[in-house]
Amino acid sequence: MANATNTFRPEIRFLFGDEERTLRDIDPQMTVLDYIRLTERKSGTKEGCAEGDCGACTVVLGEPDGNGGMAYRTVNACIQFVPTLDGKQLLTVEHLKSKDGSLHPVQQAMVETHGSQCGFCTPGFVMSLYQLWLDGGEDDRGAINDALAGNLCRCTGYGPIIDAARKAGGVAAGDAVEQKRRADVAARLSSMIKDAGTLAIEHAAGRYYAPRTSDELASLLVAHPDATVLAGGTDVGLWVTKMLKRLDPITYIGDVADMKSVYETDDALIIGAGVTYSRAHDALGRVAADIGELVRRIGSRQIRNAGTVGGNIANGSPIGDTPPALIALGAKIVLRMGDVRREVALEDFFITYGKQDRVAGEFVESVIVPKPKSGLVFKAYKISKRFDQDITAVLGAFAIKVVDGKVAEFRAAFGGMAGTPMRAKKCEAALIGQAWDEASLNAAQLALSKDFAPMTDMRASKEYRMLVAQNLLTKLFIETNAPEVATRLVGKEAAHV
Ligand SMILES: Cc1cc2nc3c(=O)[nH]c(=O)nc-3n(C[C@H](O)[C@H](O)[C@H](O)COP(=O)(O)OP(=O)(O)OC[C@H]3O[C@@H](n4cnc5c(N)ncnc54)[C@H](O)[C@@H]3O)c2cc1C
Ligand code: FES
Ligand code: FES
Repeated sequence: MANATNTFRPEIRFLFGDEERTLRDIDPQMTVLDYIRLTERKSGTKEGCAEGDCGACTVVLGEPDGNGGMAYRTVNACIQFVPTLDGKQLLTVEHLKSKDGSLHPVQQAMVETHGSQCGFCTPGFVMSLYQLWLDGGEDDRGAINDALAGNLCRCTGYGPIIDAARKAGGVAAGDAVEQKRRADVAARLSSMIKDAGTLAIEHAAGRYYAPRTSDELASLLVAHPDATVLAGGTDVGLWVTKMLKRLDPITYIGDVADMKSVYETDDALIIGAGVTYSRAHDALGRVAADIGELVRRIGSRQIRNAGTVGGNIANGSPIGDTPPALIALGAKIVLRMGDVRREVALEDFFITYGKQDRVAGEFVESVIVPKPKSGLVFKAYKISKRFDQDITAVLGAFAIKVVDGKVAEFRAAFGGMAGTPMRAKKCEAALIGQAWDEASLNAAQLALSKDFAPMTDMRASKEYRMLVAQNLLTKLFIETNAPEVATRLVGKEAAHV
């Protein structure tokens, strides 16, 4: 094994509710959902889609928050692998009822508001509501919708479930009993894995390593350059459940402590590759409001609680949401192999469809997002068929600086328009140095049709993609230009939408 100075541990240790579990000799690709249903024989948690879309498999995961308490989050059990439970607490719908048999407030609220009919989706909704309750509850309709967007119901209609969210309320901030419970769980978990070394499973079905430091990760990947890097598993999980792939070995980066932080310098935000969308959201929103909103619309709460910005980049997808926005902002990534690091402009990382500037054994360590300089306006627009839980058809991201009516700086990047996320360089050239007026807008739209030859697929036709991309420029024009100019161009009402 790669790092001879470390100790390795072959068994997974976690809490299932309040009960300790130590698992040896387990296929590292077994999903948490299969474990719950087939090994624990708890059938409350359901399988609907096995791809993170429906929320029927929603469970709550807790882990020590580093301040003596616990941080809880919902995830889709269907696309998480069992070894990722190491050092955590797994809570399913079976854990909510009190010892005396009384229902938890969120369960009681679901009963009283008639929030369940056939019941198939109900355990998943209950777990999302339970997370909302753990977070203190919510009354605002938008916030409740956001918390429930990853749970689908075919029969009840969402009204009664939203009523249940309001009725259940939440745990009071500073509740002494709850705080003590969390502190006790955190202490138990910490003692279970303290000094226990790195999880390393070598099973006949495959190997799995969960390094705890980036140095250890780097050594492991040098020793196993063919390893599949696993971050949030919101792509990789589907390779197993939908494509039935065998991955061997897997190197999990979710426990690498020094890649799980976001920190700021005067000029930039640095996001570790193990940081989930949910944790990156606020900081990205402070850099530019539109990128915060973009991240808020990625998948669902469960997906954002697991998926990472690093994974969104490393997967090389032409329709990942963060790359075009990060390219427009001029972001860089830090790639590392062994002890050697190199910084690459994000736009240069994507070479062609399915090919990135990354060699075997190298990994994305962090993402450097520059803060927009004074006067630079950033806008990003995601176009998809549904608002939540949908993959992008076209995404346009723009960073523009207008000085004395002229475009002084302009970077435009698109997703869904080519085999990779890509800058629209002809479009940029058509605008830079020009007055920010209708004539330049038209010229930029024409240039855009020379930048890209999009394809037709199940999400959109090539004609639709091009028209939408050009219209996004119009939207940018309206939102960044004087109202009277915008009104003349698109009509009085549209200009004020
Ligand atoms: C239901 C659902 C909805 C989704 N909605 C959206 C959406 O709205 N917008 C969107 O953009 N995406 C969406 N996705 C896709 C997915 O969530 C994102 O691409 C996510 O960012 C992947 O990150 P991850 O941490 O889960 O990566 P993983 O699945 O763990 O890994 C993805 C790929 O990146 C590699 N990798 C991960 N981290 C590193 C690293 N540090 N170094 C090197 N390689 C690495 C892995 O080996 C793998 O090839 C959705 C997925 C699902 C299942
Ligand atoms: S079974 Fe549908 S999200 Fe997991
Ligand atoms: S109650 Fe039937 S799917 Fe929701």
